[in-house]
Amino acid sequence: MNLPRIGLVSSDLDGTLLGDPLATLRFAEAWRSIPEIARPLLVYNTGRSVADTLQVVAARGLPTADFIIGGLGTELHGVDDLDRETYRAQLDPRWNLHAVERIVRTHPGVRGQPIEFQNPYKSSWYWSRAHPADLDRLRRELRWSGHHVKLVYSCAYFLDILPQRAGKGNALEWLRHRLGTPVKRILVAGDTGNDVDMFLLPRVNGIVVQNALPELLAVVAKTNTYVARQPMADGVIEGLSHYGVLATEADALRV
Ligand code: GLC
Repeated sequence: MNLPRIGLVSSDLDGTLLGDPLATLRFAEAWRSIPEIARPLLVYNTGRSVADTLQVVAARGLPTADFIIGGLGTELHGVDDLDRETYRAQLDPRWNLHAVERIVRTHPGVRGQPIEFQNPYKSSWYWSRAHPADLDRLRRELRWSGHHVKLVYSCAYFLDILPQRAGKGNALEWLRHRLGTPVKRILVAGDTGNDVDMFLLPRVNGIVVQNALPELLAVVAKTNTYVARQPMADGVIEGLSHYGVLATEADALRV
């Protein structure tokens, strides 16, 4: 099989690069072992805020990323102020956080996440085992009220409501375009439903880790994705070897 040379790796954190502290350190070591000239750009693409991501990256010994896409594509780090403003301005000029909150709050069983998980473009809630029909009802209600938002439900627990152009996939697509990287040179990694739209970028390469939830596995079945046999960061290492980003033992023997 002819695999493309990967130029940018966009990985989720929780349940993907984080979750098994020793595996996280193994990933960090493996990443640093790639000769700088051959090392792809590294993007952490997460539901966490950028501030929280910077903290957890330092605390867990993860390598410093070139870019961070935080708050499910509502925050960018690593770009200049002008790019950050341009990005936010295109999310949705009609986005109305408070109006969205008023509607969501009327749905039984939905609880607001603490303030540190919110930002002006991300309305985040807990909704345990929401029924698909109830999620549809909320989606319809928001649409009828003129809110063309993106609703991301993951882990049968987290509900994030975002401007239509936010989300991990759209943010990655924006950054990719800004950097001029062809999509076939992008590799994404994840484990849950909030990663889905990264995997749906046409022709993108993917790694799903062994602990991935059915909500993601069901989607990637038709995409260009490597399903790792190992969980979390070990699964990412396995996937990076599959795509030739990391040298395998066989490669090492060949030299
Ligand atoms: C992270 C965020 C949270 C979000 C969840 C799922 O845990 O902190 O706000 O709901 O990811 O996307």
